[in-house]
Amino acid sequence: MANVIFMKHKKSINILAIETSCDETSVAVVNAINGKFTILSNIVSSQIKIHRKYGGIVPEVAARNHAKNIIPVFEKAIKKAQAGKTKIDYIAVANKPGLITSLLVGVETAKAVSYVWQKPLLAVDHVKAHLYANWFSSAADYQMSVVRFPSLGLIVSGGHTQLIYMKDAFSFKIVGETLDDAAGEAFDKVAKILGLGYPGGPVISRMADFGDENKFQFPLGLLHSGDFNFSFSGIKTSVLYLTKRLDKRIIERQRADICAGFQKAVVDVLVKKTYAASKKFKTETILLGGGVTANRKLREEMQKKSLAENIKVLIPPVGLCTDNAAIIAAAAYFKVRKKQFSHWSKIKVESN
Ligand code: KG4
Ligand code: ZN
Repeated sequence: MANVIFMKHKKSINILAIETSCDETSVAVVNAINGKFTILSNIVSSQIKIHRKYGGIVPEVAARNHAKNIIPVFEKAIKKAQAGKTKIDYIAVANKPGLITSLLVGVETAKAVSYVWQKPLLAVDHVKAHLYANWFSSAADYQMSVVRFPSLGLIVSGGHTQLIYMKDAFSFKIVGETLDDAAGEAFDKVAKILGLGYPGGPVISRMADFGDENKFQFPLGLLHSGDFNFSFSGIKTSVLYLTKRLDKRIIERQRADICAGFQKAVVDVLVKKTYAASKKFKTETILLGGGVTANRKLREEMQKKSLAENIKVLIPPVGLCTDNAAIIAAAAYFKVRKKQFSHWSKIKVESN
């Protein structure tokens, strides 16, 4: 039986959230009332330009830039939200998974603010938080009533690819995951092989728009494995072999076709396995989250399949797919409901 939850939680609360797990320094203020979330501010300072010249994220450089950016980003977020100490009720922070030294910058800042302002502190798993981006969807006023449980979450980011069974808004059970590369990691590695730079997702997706997705066929990893695990290293390796086999000039001319074929293979397997898992576990809603969810083809194919299979799919607004602090605040809201606070002296950062 589907359940509609939290409609009676009427108290208005403001959560200030901090996210520094990878290469985005982000601070947000989110209001929650009656089960409806409103973003009062969500400032994201991206380090993409800095890391692009290294071809990927350099942890030491990322941490130094978080340290440089965190106070200006914090200041912008509270100014934009017009919410200082008196208006903020809770402080939330991503404490895992991610780069340890990057996470530390956010966590130490959150601890200091919570201590000085005397506000309860909440530690949030940033990967799970990606699914809560769906609670901001503009499709419905009261998203809580739209997310029906049990739900199946698909998280596709640079570090994770997981299928998660959610009996309710609080519980997460991994029912499938990648055995090697994450989907976003495959996009990033293939872009590197094709000399397209970092990060790979957005550039491959743009190139693919100009290509023929049927010109090159890549293997659909573990499509018929009978479980809900994924593998993306085989697709990446076949792109590598293809580039070794073909002449450089041919590759340059056919880069768009290779991007389109690669993207099709990744999207096909994600869509097929997600809907198969939803049917097997009889879930009422599919929730997507993580940076790869910004991919236009993935969004379109997920919607098409939703109509064909008559299973509801929720896809976050593009701006909330990649790392940002608003999703940390949304996830923290559920921790407030469960009174899962963390004392500043106990909070730990974890890479996994
Ligand atoms: O969730 P996220 O911002 O950070 C992690 O938690 O990893 O995801 C970043 C990943 C990167 O691998 C990036 O290439 C991928 O998301 N990505 C995309 C797109 N935009 C970002 N992948 C495919 N298509 C996109 N449009
Ligand atoms: Zn992420």
